[in-house]
Amino acid sequence: MDIRLLQPSDLPLIQHANLENLPENYFLKYYLYHALSWPQLSYVAVDASRPRTSPYDHPKIVGYVLAKMEEEPSDGIPHGHITSLSVMRTHRRLGIAEKLMRQSQRAMVETFGAKYVSLHVRVSNVAAIRLYRDTLGFTVEKAEPKYYADGEDAHCMRLDLGPIR
Ligand code: ACO
Repeated sequence: MDIRLLQPSDLPLIQHANLENLPENYFLKYYLYHALSWPQLSYVAVDASRPRTSPYDHPKIVGYVLAKMEEEPSDGIPHGHITSLSVMRTHRRLGIAEKLMRQSQRAMVETFGAKYVSLHVRVSNVAAIRLYRDTLGFTVEKAEPKYYADGEDAHCMRLDLGPIR
């Protein structure tokens, strides 16, 4: 499995993966905004074992992390934000999400001097909460009642990026 920086040409495949894996979906221009504004922060996982049938055959994207810097942080502290993360069902529990997250976190520090990274996750999303809390070390900062369009609450989680520096 190769982890590499997201390229604008990946965006339709990332949008497809997002639609498959999550109810929070975005217009293509929002993905493009991430890719153009913070090209160092978003990564894809590519299944390199899949044979290419022609020079135009795009390698299969099996996971992505879409990330940004908070543009006007209310606390005045430069920090990153994970907009969306997902891995295709066929490729889960292989450590792909952990690798995508660690790459993005490192780039937030090295490129933008981020002090911490934040994200929102559904309170019912056991798999993602375990990844963030137990594997990566995030903590729940606060609850965001009815954050999602269907009325579900979110945990607002964050990770201090000091140890990466
Ligand atoms: N159940 C319990 N723990 C889990 C699970 C699970 N199904 N999946 C991952 N974990 C935890 C485990 O601690 C795991 O370590 P282990 O395998 O050694 O036990 C650790 O996370 C690392 O797992 P990865 O293999 O790196 O995770 P994976 O590549 O499978 O991706 C993800 C996890 C992204 C949550 C995946 O299940 C997925 O795409 N789910 C649907 C989309 C989603 O929920 N995305 C996150 C939404 S929040 C947001 O986007 C900001």
